[in-house]
Amino acid sequence: MTDPIPTPADLTLEEKAALTSGADFWTTKPVERVGVPAVMMTDGPHGLRKQAGASDHLGIATSVPATCFPPAVALGSSFDPELAERVGAALGVESAIEDVAVILGPGVNIKRSPLCGRNFEYFSEDPVVAGVLGAGLVRGIQSRGVGASLKHFAANNQETDRLRVSSDVDPRPLREIYLRGFQRVVEDAQPWTVMCAYNRINGVYASEDPWLLTSVLREEWGFEGLVVSDWGAVNDRVAGLPAGLDLEMPSSGGRTDAQLVAAVREGSLDEAALDAAAARVLDLVRKSQARDGVDGPLDVDAHHALAHEAATRSIVLLKNDAATLPLARDVRIAVVGAFAEAPRYQGAGSSLINPTRLDAALDAIRALAAGDVAYAPGFTLDGSGDAAALRAEAVAVASEAETTVVFLGLPAAEESEGFDRAHIDLPGEQIELLDALLAAGANVVVVLSNGGVVALPFADRVPAIVEGWLLGQAGGGATADVLFGVVNPSGKLTETIPLRLEDSPSFGFFPGEFGHVRYGEGLLVGYRGFDAKKTPVAFPFGHGLSYTTFGYGAASASVSASGDVVVTVPVTNTGRVPGREIVQVYSSLERSVVLRAPRELKAFASVELDPGETREVALVVRRADLAYWDVRVDAWVVEGGDYTVEVAASSRDIRATATVAVSGDEVRVPLTPDSSIGDLLENPVTAPDIREAVEPMFGDDEGMLKMMASFPIGRLAGFPNAPITPERIEELLAAGNAAS
Ligand code: BGC
Repeated sequence: MTDPIPTPADLTLEEKAALTSGADFWTTKPVERVGVPAVMMTDGPHGLRKQAGASDHLGIATSVPATCFPPAVALGSSFDPELAERVGAALGVESAIEDVAVILGPGVNIKRSPLCGRNFEYFSEDPVVAGVLGAGLVRGIQSRGVGASLKHFAANNQETDRLRVSSDVDPRPLREIYLRGFQRVVEDAQPWTVMCAYNRINGVYASEDPWLLTSVLREEWGFEGLVVSDWGAVNDRVAGLPAGLDLEMPSSGGRTDAQLVAAVREGSLDEAALDAAAARVLDLVRKSQARDGVDGPLDVDAHHALAHEAATRSIVLLKNDAATLPLARDVRIAVVGAFAEAPRYQGAGSSLINPTRLDAALDAIRALAAGDVAYAPGFTLDGSGDAAALRAEAVAVASEAETTVVFLGLPAAEESEGFDRAHIDLPGEQIELLDALLAAGANVVVVLSNGGVVALPFADRVPAIVEGWLLGQAGGGATADVLFGVVNPSGKLTETIPLRLEDSPSFGFFPGEFGHVRYGEGLLVGYRGFDAKKTPVAFPFGHGLSYTTFGYGAASASVSASGDVVVTVPVTNTGRVPGREIVQVYSSLERSVVLRAPRELKAFASVELDPGETREVALVVRRADLAYWDVRVDAWVVEGGDYTVEVAASSRDIRATATVAVSGDEVRVPLTPDSSIGDLLENPVTAPDIREAVEPMFGDDEGMLKMMASFPIGRLAGFPNAPITPERIEELLAAGNAAS
């Protein structure tokens, strides 16, 4: 039995200050005098990156071997929070074995632009997907007595100038798009820690924003854990601490601890704020000490098998004309593309895992194919070498085969934490290779390896495309399993693949300049924007094929006792092999008082079906997810009305529609002299008097009345011969406010 962890009252001022910043890159400071041990935090998010020797936060120095699970870009495509939870539990086990208290993930930032260099670490362009998957991962990690760190809070949607840039976002997109996923994870899974982002939000550093770190995170959402800074995110620790930043990471060498002590001594910092932060660090230490029941050694095989399963579920079959896939085992296959031999399976930066093993697709294909599989790299990963000769060799290899599987993708150097991409194109030599193969008449299946979406100008010219993302250490085997139909693919896109970068809603508003990025597309992020503008896309959000087909019956929707909307739909496997379908529910409200995207994802579920089998799938749309953020009253509001509920196989493949009447929240907007005549006519208390006052001016000329409806009532009182006195207006406003 270890000694109980003390409280801040047992500590000196200096000890409390010391406790709230790191000792080094990865550990908190111990307070040996009173028996407080140090605890360790390490990256995350899709594997453990515990550095045993030299430390850095950019993935430079190596780390202990750990299972590299599919990064969020891939895992998200499973649309499966239970799978995320199982992966999370494995991450928790690996962390516990290495005595790591907190693993730094998941990242639930929204993929605002396809150019964000770190999109591979994030789940989706949609906040419900990001929140649900993120919550699953957190639940899993924490089920093993290890803390998660939800990051990067918030509005960290680009790498350009990430330590200083101000994300200038209006309140509705901020709440409805950029904070919603974080809110979901906090409310559903209560992560032990939240990591505040580097950037500023509307001019204020996330690390010192009392609105973000205290009002929203703790008071509104009920967060009970600790806020840790991103590594080096602290701009002004004395301002940050009372704003809600509990722990600065990594170490500041004691410099900012001394600033805290001095601020308390001179009275500019309330010691109670330091006590609260120190208490949260102590609480984190206590939680991590309470862990038991996870013993090593790591079961490398079992975790590799889970990484493999997760990878198979992450693959998205984008296109499959004439049932090109799955491949028959005895078909003569050629493999082209250097990624088949040297997989790209994770992104660069702080999430770089040192994998326990690494499967190459080429080996796995050879193991499954009945005959010999010829291979040619076709290009080099760094663009060096004689491109024409490599191409010619590949064409020759393909000419002997019935089907050529071509592995294309982004070179590692093109996407990383720390910088954004300049374009979404595949390297020219890869496109030239593909063109040469097609010109020579090869029957081509394209397999992609990429952390951020890439343009697919060849999509119409190849019969089959497999989006393999970055699949983690077992991705090679998973890819082969999908190609041969050992596994029926079931992943779907959590982000739109545009035809052109220029079509992306954030184009022109990314990455900003001179320290500011204006989120000018507002709410119309990702598919919301593509749909609003009816822009054609290469492959829409939610899209993904299977080797079987699914039929949807009629949907029904009703409001449950709790106020949530329950949607049910029968789904049938209408093909010849077992398969899994991800069913999506989108909502919309015609004639809404606020701008809305044509459809917004509100719920999803996956269902496994044998051929011919039908199941009733029930999906729950939370009432809270129907709410918009009402800027007049600074609150979530569910607008009443008949909502359209679309049950869909993708955002552009709607299979069934239902309507459900939802009762609205009452919104009480205080009446002021700035309230319009229209506002007062809508209020039952003020309406009779206002009508009486204004009607003589226009008689029954409804057109005039409509024109005057937007006129603030206070201004009317100033008119010559105004039909109503300022005093009467004051009385009316008071009566209207008192009655509401
Ligand atoms: C990244 C975080 C990471 C931290 C520690 C930062 O640069 O933004 O995601 O957890 O470093 O490595």
